[in-house]
Amino acid sequence: MRFEGKTALVTGAASGMGFLFSECFLKEGGNVVLADFNEEALQEKTAGLLELYPGRATGVLTDVRRYEDAVKARDKAVETFGRIDVLANFAGGTARRILKVPGELEFPDVPIDVFDFGLDVNLKGPFYMDHAVLSVMREQKSGVIVHLGSVTGVDGDPKGMDYPTAKAGLMYGLTKSVAQYGAKYGIRCVSVSPGPVLTREAMAKLRTLLGRAAEPQEVVDLILYLVSDQASFITGENIMIDGGRSVMPK
Ligand SMILES: NC(=O)c1ccc[n+]([C@@H]2O[C@H](COP(=O)([O-])OP(=O)(O)OC[C@H]3O[C@@H](n4cnc5c(N)ncnc54)[C@H](O)[C@@H]3O)[C@@H](O)[C@H]2O)c1
Repeated sequence: MRFEGKTALVTGAASGMGFLFSECFLKEGGNVVLADFNEEALQEKTAGLLELYPGRATGVLTDVRRYEDAVKARDKAVETFGRIDVLANFAGGTARRILKVPGELEFPDVPIDVFDFGLDVNLKGPFYMDHAVLSVMREQKSGVIVHLGSVTGVDGDPKGMDYPTAKAGLMYGLTKSVAQYGAKYGIRCVSVSPGPVLTREAMAKLRTLLGRAAEPQEVVDLILYLVSDQASFITGENIMIDGGRSVMPK
């Protein structure tokens, strides 16, 4: 029960690793505010968790691309549970996939709106969430912020250029900067950067040194450790969890 009495605000909580993290955080005694822009999935997932953990979960419709929504999510967490111990920024994904851009289109032929979307979700979203939540953590003099990077932030991608650009910004610039700012207030900030994870079947095709993609639980277990007191001396760090993909012989 590592999270008894603690509250996590989780973006991208209606699906994939964000949902799994929320479930595990509740299982270990914590409270969770699920934030997502998919209203139907958010309602369904929040209702399911509330049945299992009465009074310890709530949902807030949040598009992380909008600063007012980041503030709304923060305020909902404070009004409901009185504090925010963990901000877990799971909301993200490649704009080309989410917006269904045909695979054959090269970078200059994809409308710039697609890349605006990708940069907004993957970089400005966590930036907005961190900005909104840090005032609460500063007041509390404690807190942990997690960013979801990606092996693509190290490797690059000649097609979906928004994604590696945004993820590299999170993994290094934002993670280090928030850690530097937060230290004097007892706030830690870490980045976790997966390789392929089986939240989608297509990920099974990607190569890794270990010859397989990750189970979502393997990534979530690392994040649960990092937000727990067991990881109290880790901050400003990007941790790769990619089955060795980033160190494969080229
Ligand atoms: N799955 C992988 O192989 C993999 C690999 C590396 C990094 N990641 C990163 O891990 C994170 C979670 O991945 P996943 O596969 O579990 O994702 P997922 O696609 O299963 O879930 C993402 C969730 O984010 C929500 N979301 C998207 N845009 C949003 C917005 N603007 N505002 C609020 N919510 C929004 C979606 O509705 C969805 O519920 C993402 O940031 C992703 O980039 C995933």
